Amino acid sequence: MANVIVVGAQFGDEGKAKVTDLLSRNADIVVRYQGGANAGHTVVVDGDTFKFHLIPSGILYKGKTCVLGPGMVIDPKAFVKELKGLTDRGLDDSGLKVSNTAHVTMPYHLAIDAADEESRGDHKIGTTKRGIGPTYADKCSRSGIRIEDLLDAKVLRGKLEWLVPKKNIILERLYNLPPFDVDAVYEEYLDYGKQMAKYVCDTSAIIFNAVQERKNILFEGAQGTLLDLDHGSYPYVTSSNPSAGGACTGAGIGPTIIDRVIGVSKAFMTRVGEGPFPTEQEGKIGEDLRQVGKAWAEVGVTTGRPRRCGWFDTVIGRYAVRINGLDCLAITKLDVLDEFDEIQVCVGYRNKQNGSIIKNISSLAGEFRDAEPIYETFKGWKESTSQCRSFKDLPKQAQRYLDFIAGELEVPVAIVSVGPMRDQTIIIEDPIHGPKRVLTHVNN
Ligand code: IMP
Repeated sequence: MANVIVVGAQFGDEGKAKVTDLLSRNADIVVRYQGGANAGHTVVVDGDTFKFHLIPSGILYKGKTCVLGPGMVIDPKAFVKELKGLTDRGLDDSGLKVSNTAHVTMPYHLAIDAADEESRGDHKIGTTKRGIGPTYADKCSRSGIRIEDLLDAKVLRGKLEWLVPKKNIILERLYNLPPFDVDAVYEEYLDYGKQMAKYVCDTSAIIFNAVQERKNILFEGAQGTLLDLDHGSYPYVTSSNPSAGGACTGAGIGPTIIDRVIGVSKAFMTRVGEGPFPTEQEGKIGEDLRQVGKAWAEVGVTTGRPRRCGWFDTVIGRYAVRINGLDCLAITKLDVLDEFDEIQVCVGYRNKQNGSIIKNISSLAGEFRDAEPIYETFKGWKESTSQCRSFKDLPKQAQRYLDFIAGELEVPVAIVSVGPMRDQTIIIEDPIHGPKRVLTHVNN
């Protein structure tokens, strides 16, 4: 038995879906623990592309239990649409479970998210406009609607009669937008409740029982460490905790059941939306990183926005190791670097104000603002890695590149992905049963 958390170790879009898909094969239960329809996970199976926003990609395997956990925010309209798209393609939904206590993204959350972004001007976050921030804000202010409320007509009606007029004041007076009608929202969301009812249950109890039966559980993070509400590049973050700690609160489990934490990083780096990105390449290199590898086109799965691209940043990597307690790394999209003459890796930042050099960050906002990356330059390998299936198949320069990253982060690289297909994967060491990482010293 092993219970494993897979987290994004960068700014999201690290290729977690492919790693989760790989590990799901041996999992009994796959759990999403935070976020909502802002996520966009792509898995390619036998040339068929599947895109997931809310539903764990574990549904691709028959017989797995796939959980949408209590820490998630679920837009029922998006859920019903996504599920229909998957079942129409023949996928089995019999193992799908939705937490009764997950919060519901309501239509006013979507409207407020979009209007708030518009009104922010220079303070824009670049959200996915999927209502994530406003849904979590209502959860925290104890004004949220939970999935279980959609199943109880009286409770839903009561909450809507109280909440919708309040939201309408915000929409009409602050943003000059049309109000929502209580009756229409009630009818529509009660109907979603009916469609979702068969999946709704106490998912934490399902996970707890599975632990006792010594089953394998995979906790699938969405977004990434640097988008974490508490530990990311605030305020340019999402409103949940994608980092490993979030798996416990977001799934309703205790930390003692976790055996492993696997961090997923691209071999370079991308970011969608606003916020600091010290190694961002705005010129030809950035464009090449975005364009290379047609199958990997670097646009957001949810929003279609072009991703900002740059070089691998070991400062951010070390930070992700610390925040998540990573045991090992999965490096994705190595093949995107195949044609580059030179590849750079950021090994530290020089402070533009005082010239001091930082290898580890403590306060993301301030240190990012003044950070000038210090690069180590690697000669490119200039040959395709997409057919490589073992570490020794990789060109020597690519091996050196991976070893360098592992050395800088002091974490082994267990998995390397060299293309979008399932078989375009190199397992260097067993990510689940390989040697457990031993903390040799504390970074400072
Ligand atoms: P929100 O989660 O829609 O509120 O967006 C907040 C920030 O997180 C924005 O910069 C988004 O671009 C970013 N973000 C949210 N979800 C994802 C994702 O799945 N991948 C990458 N970035 C994301």
